[in-house]
Amino acid sequence: MREVALNVLVSEIAACSACALASGRTATVPGEGLASAKLMLVGEAPGAREDREGRPFAGASGTLLNQLLDGAGLSRNDVFITNTVKCRPPDNRDPRADEIASCSTFLSRQIEAISPQVVATLGRHALAVFAPGAVIGEAHGAPYQGERQNLHSGVILFPLYHPAAALHNGKLRPTLEEDMRALAALLGAPARVGAGTATLYGTPQEGVRAEAGRGG
Ligand code: URA
Repeated sequence: MREVALNVLVSEIAACSACALASGRTATVPGEGLASAKLMLVGEAPGAREDREGRPFAGASGTLLNQLLDGAGLSRNDVFITNTVKCRPPDNRDPRADEIASCSTFLSRQIEAISPQVVATLGRHALAVFAPGAVIGEAHGAPYQGERQNLHSGVILFPLYHPAAALHNGKLRPTLEEDMRALAALLGAPARVGAGTATLYGTPQEGVRAEAGRGG
Protein backbone atom coordinates (compact mmCIF):
# COMPACT_ATOMS: atom_id res chain seq x y z
CA MET A 1 0.00 0.00 0.00
CA ARG A 2 1.24 3.47 -0.89
CA GLU A 3 0.71 4.88 2.60
CA VAL A 4 2.67 2.08 4.26
CA ALA A 5 5.58 2.45 1.86
CA LEU A 6 5.64 6.23 2.36
CA ASN A 7 5.55 5.91 6.14
CA VAL A 8 8.44 3.44 6.03
CA LEU A 9 10.37 5.99 3.98
CA VAL A 10 9.61 8.80 6.46
CA SER A 11 11.15 6.66 9.23
CA GLU A 12 14.15 5.61 7.15
CA ILE A 13 14.86 9.19 6.11
CA ALA A 14 14.61 10.35 9.74
CA ALA A 15 17.25 7.77 10.69
CA CYS A 16 19.52 8.35 7.67
CA SER A 17 23.13 9.36 8.11
CA ALA A 18 24.37 8.35 4.68
CA CYS A 19 25.89 11.73 3.81
CA ALA A 20 27.36 14.73 5.60
CA LEU A 21 24.10 16.70 5.44
CA ALA A 22 22.72 14.55 8.26
CA SER A 23 25.05 16.13 10.83
CA GLY A 24 23.77 19.66 10.19
CA ARG A 25 20.06 19.08 10.07
CA THR A 26 17.40 20.06 12.57
CA ALA A 27 14.69 17.98 10.95
CA THR A 28 14.59 15.75 7.92
CA VAL A 29 12.24 16.91 5.16
CA PRO A 30 10.92 13.76 3.52
CA GLY A 31 8.12 15.40 1.55
CA GLU A 32 4.40 15.71 1.98
CA GLY A 33 1.18 15.42 0.07
CA LEU A 34 -1.29 13.01 -1.39
CA ALA A 35 -0.15 9.39 -1.47
CA SER A 36 -2.16 8.79 -4.65
CA ALA A 37 -1.15 12.04 -6.33
CA LYS A 38 -1.06 12.10 -10.12
CA LEU A 39 1.46 14.91 -9.93
CA MET A 40 4.71 14.77 -8.00
CA LEU A 41 6.82 17.92 -7.68
CA VAL A 42 10.53 17.53 -7.03
CA GLY A 43 12.40 20.59 -5.77
CA GLU A 44 16.02 21.10 -4.94
CA ALA A 45 16.74 20.99 -1.20
CA PRO A 46 15.24 22.15 2.09
CA GLY A 47 16.12 25.66 3.23
CA ALA A 48 16.28 27.09 6.74
CA ARG A 49 12.56 27.17 7.34
CA GLU A 50 12.03 23.69 5.89
CA ASP A 51 14.82 22.43 8.16
CA ARG A 52 13.03 23.88 11.19
CA GLU A 53 9.55 22.71 10.22
CA GLY A 54 10.34 19.39 8.53
CA ARG A 55 8.18 20.38 5.54
CA PRO A 56 9.09 21.09 1.92
CA PHE A 57 8.49 24.50 0.38
CA ALA A 58 7.45 26.13 3.65
CA GLY A 59 9.00 29.51 2.87
CA ALA A 60 8.78 32.19 0.18
CA SER A 61 9.34 29.76 -2.69
CA GLY A 62 6.53 27.65 -1.27
CA THR A 63 4.17 30.61 -1.15
CA LEU A 64 4.85 31.31 -4.81
CA LEU A 65 4.55 27.61 -5.65
CA ASN A 66 1.13 27.50 -4.00
CA GLN A 67 0.06 30.57 -5.98
CA LEU A 68 1.29 29.03 -9.23
CA LEU A 69 -0.58 25.79 -8.52
CA ASP A 70 -3.76 27.67 -7.59
CA GLY A 71 -3.48 29.90 -10.65
CA ALA A 72 -3.41 26.86 -12.89
CA GLY A 73 -6.40 25.23 -11.20
CA LEU A 74 -4.25 22.76 -9.29
CA SER A 75 -4.01 22.53 -5.52
CA ARG A 76 -1.15 21.77 -3.20
CA ASN A 77 -3.43 19.33 -1.39
CA ASP A 78 -3.64 17.19 -4.52
CA VAL A 79 0.05 16.80 -5.24
CA PHE A 80 3.05 15.24 -3.52
CA ILE A 81 6.05 17.53 -3.00
CA THR A 82 9.57 16.47 -2.17
CA ASN A 83 13.18 17.41 -2.93
CA THR A 84 16.28 15.81 -4.41
CA VAL A 85 17.80 15.74 -0.91
CA LYS A 86 15.91 15.43 2.36
CA CYS A 87 18.28 17.44 4.56
CA ARG A 88 19.28 21.10 4.35
CA PRO A 89 22.66 21.87 2.77
CA PRO A 90 24.63 24.32 4.93
CA ASP A 91 24.13 28.04 4.17
CA ASN A 92 21.56 27.13 1.52
CA ARG A 93 24.26 26.05 -0.90
CA ASP A 94 23.30 23.83 -3.82
CA PRO A 95 23.13 20.14 -3.00
CA ARG A 96 26.25 18.34 -4.27
CA ALA A 97 26.09 15.50 -6.76
CA ASP A 98 27.25 12.97 -4.15
CA GLU A 99 24.53 14.14 -1.73
CA ILE A 100 21.86 13.90 -4.41
CA ALA A 101 23.16 10.44 -5.36
CA SER A 102 23.13 9.16 -1.80
CA CYS A 103 19.54 10.41 -1.34
CA SER A 104 18.32 9.19 -4.73
CA THR A 105 17.05 5.83 -3.54
CA PHE A 106 14.59 7.64 -1.27
CA LEU A 107 13.33 9.70 -4.19
CA SER A 108 13.07 6.63 -6.43
CA ARG A 109 11.15 4.73 -3.79
CA GLN A 110 8.79 7.68 -3.25
CA ILE A 111 8.09 7.77 -7.00
CA GLU A 112 7.60 4.01 -7.02
CA ALA A 113 5.17 4.16 -4.07
CA ILE A 114 3.13 7.07 -5.41
CA SER A 115 3.29 6.00 -9.05
CA PRO A 116 2.37 9.44 -10.40
CA GLN A 117 1.43 10.20 -13.99
CA VAL A 118 3.77 13.17 -14.04
CA VAL A 119 6.96 14.08 -12.22
CA ALA A 120 7.50 17.84 -12.52
CA THR A 121 10.97 19.03 -11.60
CA LEU A 122 11.52 22.46 -10.07
CA GLY A 123 14.84 23.86 -11.22
CA ARG A 124 17.93 22.47 -12.86
CA HIS A 125 19.18 20.29 -10.00
CA ALA A 126 16.01 18.24 -9.90
CA LEU A 127 15.88 18.08 -13.69
CA ALA A 128 19.44 16.74 -13.76
CA VAL A 129 18.39 13.75 -11.64
CA PHE A 130 16.15 12.56 -14.46
CA ALA A 131 17.59 14.17 -17.57
CA PRO A 132 21.30 14.84 -17.06
CA GLY A 133 21.74 16.35 -20.52
CA ALA A 134 18.77 18.69 -20.40
CA VAL A 135 19.02 22.47 -20.42
CA ILE A 136 16.23 24.00 -18.37
CA GLY A 137 15.95 27.09 -20.55
CA GLU A 138 15.04 24.82 -23.45
CA ALA A 139 13.21 22.00 -21.68
CA HIS A 140 10.82 23.90 -19.39
CA GLY A 141 7.08 23.90 -19.95
CA ALA A 142 6.64 20.70 -21.93
CA PRO A 143 6.93 16.94 -21.41
CA TYR A 144 10.60 16.05 -21.76
CA GLN A 145 11.31 14.01 -24.88
CA GLY A 146 15.05 13.35 -24.50
CA GLU A 147 17.05 10.67 -22.70
CA ARG A 148 15.87 10.03 -19.14
CA GLN A 149 17.00 8.07 -16.14
CA ASN A 150 15.60 7.16 -12.69
CA LEU A 151 12.05 7.16 -14.07
CA HIS A 152 9.82 4.40 -15.43
CA SER A 153 8.99 4.90 -19.09
CA GLY A 154 5.29 5.41 -18.32
CA VAL A 155 5.91 8.45 -16.13
CA ILE A 156 5.94 11.84 -17.88
CA LEU A 157 8.81 14.14 -16.95
CA PHE A 158 7.79 17.81 -16.99
CA PRO A 159 10.53 20.38 -16.29
CA LEU A 160 9.66 23.68 -14.62
CA TYR A 161 11.82 26.55 -13.48
CA HIS A 162 12.34 26.72 -9.73
CA PRO A 163 9.95 29.23 -8.07
CA ALA A 164 12.99 30.89 -6.46
CA ALA A 165 14.18 31.82 -9.95
CA ALA A 166 11.02 33.90 -10.39
CA LEU A 167 11.53 35.47 -6.97
CA HIS A 168 14.97 36.62 -8.08
CA ASN A 169 13.91 37.54 -11.59
CA GLY A 170 10.30 38.69 -11.79
CA LYS A 171 10.32 38.39 -15.57
CA LEU A 172 10.30 34.60 -15.18
CA ARG A 173 6.99 34.58 -13.34
CA PRO A 174 4.74 34.73 -16.44
CA THR A 175 6.77 31.87 -17.91
CA LEU A 176 6.28 29.80 -14.77
CA GLU A 177 2.57 30.62 -14.78
CA GLU A 178 2.23 29.57 -18.39
CA ASP A 179 4.25 26.38 -17.80
CA MET A 180 2.09 25.50 -14.80
CA ARG A 181 -1.04 25.93 -16.92
CA ALA A 182 0.47 23.64 -19.55
CA LEU A 183 1.14 21.09 -16.82
CA ALA A 184 -2.45 21.36 -15.55
CA ALA A 185 -3.75 20.88 -19.08
CA LEU A 186 -1.59 17.78 -19.45
CA LEU A 187 -3.07 16.36 -16.26
CA GLY A 188 -6.56 17.11 -17.56
CA ALA A 189 -9.08 19.56 -16.13
CA PRO A 190 -10.32 19.65 -13.48
CA ALA A 191 -6.94 18.85 -12.03
CA ARG A 192 -8.07 18.40 -8.45
CA VAL A 193 -7.30 14.70 -8.43
CA GLY A 194 -8.37 12.84 -5.32
CA ALA A 195 -9.98 15.88 -3.69
CA GLY A 196 -12.17 14.87 -0.79
CA THR A 197 -10.37 11.59 -0.19
CA ALA A 198 -6.99 13.05 0.58
CA THR A 199 -4.69 11.23 2.94
CA LEU A 200 -1.79 13.56 3.41
CA TYR A 201 1.59 12.43 4.59
CA GLY A 202 3.84 14.75 6.44
CA THR A 203 6.79 14.58 8.72
CA PRO A 204 7.63 12.26 11.58
CA GLN A 205 7.75 15.33 13.79
CA GLU A 206 4.27 16.46 13.03
CA GLY A 207 2.53 13.40 11.65
CA VAL A 208 -0.35 13.59 9.24
CA ARG A 209 -1.07 17.05 7.87
CA ALA A 210 -4.34 18.32 6.61
CA GLU A 211 -3.12 21.75 5.66
CA ALA A 212 -0.23 22.70 3.48
CA GLY A 213 1.37 25.77 2.06
CA ARG A 214 2.55 28.68 4.09
CA GLY A 215 4.84 31.46 3.23
CA GLY A 216 7.72 32.99 5.04
N1 URA B 1 12.08 24.65 -0.27
C1 URA B 1 12.19 23.36 -0.62
O1 URA B 1 11.68 22.48 0.07
N2 URA B 1 12.85 23.05 -1.73
C2 URA B 1 13.39 23.95 -2.52
O2 URA B 1 13.95 23.59 -3.55
C3 URA B 1 13.27 25.31 -2.13
C4 URA B 1 12.62 25.64 -1.02
